[in-house]
Amino acid sequence: MPSEELARLDALLSVGLGLARKARSGRLLLARIADSIDVGWIPRPWGDEIAAELEAALVGAAEPLSDREVHRVLRDAWGSRPEDELDDLDPDPVAVTPAAQVHRGSFDGKPVAVKVLRTGLAASVRQDLALVELLAGPLGSAFPGVDPAAVTREFRERVLEELDLEHEAEVQRRFHRALRGHPFLSVPAPVTRLCHESVLVSEWADGVSLWDAPDSDLAAARLIAFAIGAAVTIGVSHADLHPDNVLVGPDGGLTILDFGATRRVDRDRAAGAIGVLDALAAADGEALGHAMAALAWLPAANGPAAIELARHALGELGAPGRTRLDDAAVLGARDRAMQRPDLIGELLVAGSPPAEDLWPARGFAVMLATIARIGAAGDWFALLRTALSEGWD
Ligand SMILES: Nc1ncnc2c1ncn2[C@@H]1O[C@H](COP(=O)(O)OP(=O)(O)O)[C@@H](O)[C@H]1O
Ligand SMILES: [Mg+2]
Repeated sequence: MPSEELARLDALLSVGLGLARKARSGRLLLARIADSIDVGWIPRPWGDEIAAELEAALVGAAEPLSDREVHRVLRDAWGSRPEDELDDLDPDPVAVTPAAQVHRGSFDGKPVAVKVLRTGLAASVRQDLALVELLAGPLGSAFPGVDPAAVTREFRERVLEELDLEHEAEVQRRFHRALRGHPFLSVPAPVTRLCHESVLVSEWADGVSLWDAPDSDLAAARLIAFAIGAAVTIGVSHADLHPDNVLVGPDGGLTILDFGATRRVDRDRAAGAIGVLDALAAADGEALGHAMAALAWLPAANGPAAIELARHALGELGAPGRTRLDDAAVLGARDRAMQRPDLIGELLVAGSPPAEDLWPARGFAVMLATIARIGAAGDWFALLRTALSEGWD
């Protein structure tokens, strides 16, 4: 291990992995992480162990619910037989995910997606969340500037929210309304009457998943417009823009799904991010320090170290202009970052990201990972800057 700071990060990861391995909800979390990245991206020395763990979790999470279980969840939610509420329900699921299963059905003569939460999941996660407290110690030593109690509380609250499909339906409706009439972004309307803590019914959306986007550069640009625009225009961050959660229509328009992992964001913070972006684009360490300090991420004095690491690791990706973000670009940036453990150590010690930014940061990371997984070219700085200043307008 090259530095003391990385050794503390290693300790945090081992405790986290140990807990995640034991608890059902921990394995769920591992499965979701495995699903959001390419496991080959995990840097050494962690690579092999974590990758094996993540892949095992993903395989374990793929077990579908039986017909009987699906019917029981629907009957409990609606207080009546599913066939009395829906015109039709396809018994074969269209998707089986670590947390849920989705079936196509028909309601009021129109096709709908019926999402059913895995049975017993919410109860076991509630129980397992007490274990998260055990992470506070190693978290505090790996990131001395972070408030571990606030971070673990934030984590628990957000995870609980992800298991409440009624909450998900409310957030989805808000997005649906705000995007009505948008030229290339849309969100299916939920059928409120049929939504419940463990069931979410929404309009069926047609399209191919982002994996099969005919024009991945255009889709990536529009994904950024959606993600950043959401924070700026309605003050909500979507933290799970996985390629399966984005459908591309024949006209290139995007339909966004899956509003389980979201968080309210302060719109002033979104505006503050413009300062960070401009300082990065200009490679101005002092300006970056001030912009980061204004967001309470890092003391101003560490701005130059942050620029040095960003420039070294990101290479041409870290400067304005059109670049390709793909698997090779991620691996290159990862390897170059690992050449500077001194700078990583300095930033880990000094950084103090507020707990409220945990889910928005996750969202930003998943969005970039999604773009890299589909492999797209764009002027990322220009796209981010436009979205930050204009939102969905
Ligand atoms: N409204 C919808 N229209 C069409 N397909 C949908 C719809 N909602 C969900 N799906 C399909 O089901 C999959 C899983 O749904 P999602 O809400 O993402 O569940 P999870 O939160 O478990 O990932 C999606 O990736 C998509 O393929
Ligand atoms: Mg999903």
